[in-house]
Amino acid sequence: IPDRNSPSKYMVGVGRADITGPAADVNMMGYANPNQISGGLHMRQYSRAFLVQQGGTRVLFVNIDACMGSLLVKLEVLKVLKQRYRGMYNAGNVCISGTHTHSAPAGFLQDVLFQITSMGYVDETLHAMVEGIVEVSLYNTTSLAPGLIMMNKGELLDTNINRSPLAYVNNPTHEKARYKYDVDKQMTLLKFVDQHGNGIGMINWFPVHCTSMNNTNTLISGDNKGYAELLFEEAMHPGSLPGGGRFVAAFAQSNEGDVSPNTRGPHCTDTGLPCGNVESTCDGKVQNCIASGPGKDMFESTKIIGTNQFNKAMELYDSAQVFLSGPVVPVHQYIDMTNTVRVNSTHSATTCKPAMGFSFAAGTTDGPGAFDFKQGDKSGNGFWKVVRNFLHAPSQELKDCHAPKPILLATGEGMNYPYPWQPEVVDTQLFRIGQFLISAVPGEFTTMAGRRLAGAVKQVFSAAEPDVEFESVVAGLSNTYSDYIATFEEYHVQRYEGASTIYGPQTLSAYIQQYKRLAHNITKVSYMCLYVGEAHDMKSKLMSFVLPVIFDTTPFGYSIGDVIVDANDSYTQGDTVSVQFYSGNPRNSPTFNMTFLEVQREVDGRWEVVLTDGCWDTKFIWGRSSFMGNVRGISEATIEWDISPTTPPGNYQIHHYGHYKTAFTHKIHPYHGRSRIFQVGPL
Ligand SMILES: *[C@@H]1O[C@H](CO)[C@@H](O)[C@H](O)[C@H]1NC(C)=O
Ligand SMILES: *[C@@H]1O[C@H](CO)[C@@H](O)[C@H](O)[C@H]1NC(C)=O
Ligand SMILES: *[C@@H]1O[C@H](CO)[C@@H](O)[C@H](O)[C@H]1NC(C)=O
Ligand SMILES: *[C@@H]1O[C@H](CO)[C@@H](O)[C@H](O)[C@H]1NC(C)=O
Ligand SMILES: *[C@@H]1O[C@H](CO)[C@@H](O)[C@H](O)[C@H]1NC(C)=O
Ligand SMILES: *[C@@H]1O[C@H](CO)[C@@H](O)[C@H](O)[C@H]1NC(C)=O
Repeated sequence: IPDRNSPSKYMVGVGRADITGPAADVNMMGYANPNQISGGLHMRQYSRAFLVQQGGTRVLFVNIDACMGSLLVKLEVLKVLKQRYRGMYNAGNVCISGTHTHSAPAGFLQDVLFQITSMGYVDETLHAMVEGIVEVSLYNTTSLAPGLIMMNKGELLDTNINRSPLAYVNNPTHEKARYKYDVDKQMTLLKFVDQHGNGIGMINWFPVHCTSMNNTNTLISGDNKGYAELLFEEAMHPGSLPGGGRFVAAFAQSNEGDVSPNTRGPHCTDTGLPCGNVESTCDGKVQNCIASGPGKDMFESTKIIGTNQFNKAMELYDSAQVFLSGPVVPVHQYIDMTNTVRVNSTHSATTCKPAMGFSFAAGTTDGPGAFDFKQGDKSGNGFWKVVRNFLHAPSQELKDCHAPKPILLATGEGMNYPYPWQPEVVDTQLFRIGQFLISAVPGEFTTMAGRRLAGAVKQVFSAAEPDVEFESVVAGLSNTYSDYIATFEEYHVQRYEGASTIYGPQTLSAYIQQYKRLAHNITKVSYMCLYVGEAHDMKSKLMSFVLPVIFDTTPFGYSIGDVIVDANDSYTQGDTVSVQFYSGNPRNSPTFNMTFLEVQREVDGRWEVVLTDGCWDTKFIWGRSSFMGNVRGISEATIEWDISPTTPPGNYQIHHYGHYKTAFTHKIHPYHGRSRIFQVGPL
């Protein structure tokens, strides 16, 4: 047994790579809003990896600016890693976890339900993600070096609220009494330093949905966590551009199932009155009951919620003192979630084949659904029952298993066309790094569900090693996506999270049973311990209905890259520069590590790049405003730059980069446009 008072020397490595998906034509993943289709970019998406090795055992935790981890992505990544690094990586020691941004392209999951709004799977999204994750996993394995890891935790207020408090209150009174809040306010952080004590990386877990940007946003964005990552990396390497500094900072997701960043809470958009009833409706409809805040619009809200997380993380990073000490052990198992659960010493129950309740279609106050559904629905609506029966009528057995959930979609029963609608087999995974325990879970645990799971795992370890002060976190949205996991009591309220708990009322008990088993297993061994299991790889069957780019052109007399609306001659700090170009479809461009724009500044007669498309102050907005633009292949890119108050006066120019496809040869060509030179004056 290692000495707990002295830090363990680990081999550590960190890395980051661009995984930005298609900035045009692809539905965003998260809100399931068919009108939310990518049309430009505000921030880039990155994968950020943390590799820890001790003895012969390593764990790789990859945080991605995406809606969730995906089994399809993980299987594709492993195919490459297994080939290039024989024996080093497998399903057990690689964890891929999503930040849950709702403003990034869809199409990277293999189940039908998650492909409906994106018209099947989208090869461009999948490809960008897999390439970036492979890149980040590979290039720092060779640069693994001795280092130390420190831990810290603290309370962050004013940054998250419970969006289903009327489900939370149904939890047992004695259990609620143990907690001050109805969401977790704790941020838990790891700080990575090299052998000279220099910081190389930071990762923290804090539960809050990345839904500060609402379902009208069409610009790719990392949302509040993505912004916090940019702030942290820039603070550690002042003057660096996004993706440019060496320091790697990840803001990972935790038990955020019922946790919203929209801290002003839900209000009726017409009357301004609160709509906190169990159905979250205004005049009987969900569409007008929307949560927002704390900012004046979604951009300001993203900025505030991101800045809050950044400030707390920096404070914890600076004051971290507790070293991690002890073995590195991953354990993992693919399990079939439709199985038996031991409820207590005398009773057992079963989980169910997947099904979604009616309230799932109501959406949430972060992004209401499109139809006539309400939350808290325990009876269902007649019209949709007919539609549902046309798809597949649930059997009595399925209905009984899921009760009191009225079934809207019997996804796990008969709905196998053209391939399964929701997963039955999921990843369960636990990493131990010294006294730090990471339960990587395949979905969205609610606040109380996450507390129960983290507590159960910690208890197993504490019983085995009573002298160790263990820290236990839930890493949400990891590896496979299987929707929500609410507690048994919350399930009975059937708000959105309960309705989306797909394996029935015992789903959480089943996970707790499983993670306790995993925990028991690795308290007994100190070497890599991997259960063998089987995952369903559907890659070869996947269908895509996203049309390719046909071609790009301009009106007669213009070239692609020509300026349509130029910059003014001069601006002052606080103004917004806006320049419009004839453009090509952004999907023609290999998005990896490129930029659609640059803001350049003249310094001593030379032009320097001061901003790129991943910066907060710039926006790349793409679309077709012209009549028949879609048919004629004419599109425009508008580049906006909010000139920050700290921008030095001088001469500036905006550049636009992209690729276009020719009409007859279908060849892809790069192009470049630039604005006039303009002046930014002193205030
Ligand atoms: C990752 O590895 C590459 C190649 O060895 C190295 O150049 C880079 O600095 C490393 N990145 C970080 C963040 O340490
Ligand atoms: C990606 O771009 C960043 C910032 O310009 C650069 O530092 C990095 O080396 C690039 N990475 C690759 C793999 O090209
Ligand atoms: C989204 O946010 C914008 C403000 O940025 C607001 O005008 C709009 O009403 C919001 N829409 C929804 C559906 O939340
Ligand atoms: C076990 O669970 C069942 C079903 O919830 C309950 O009726 C029973 O009282 C419980 N038994 C014990 C010993 O807790
Ligand atoms: C842990 O898992 C391995 C692989 O399935 C199994 O052989 C072993 O018996 C388990 N150990 C314990 C202590 O449960
Ligand atoms: C740029 O010029 C136009 C036309 O003169 C004017 O309407 C606009 O306000 C100017 N924009 C800024 C930011 O100064």
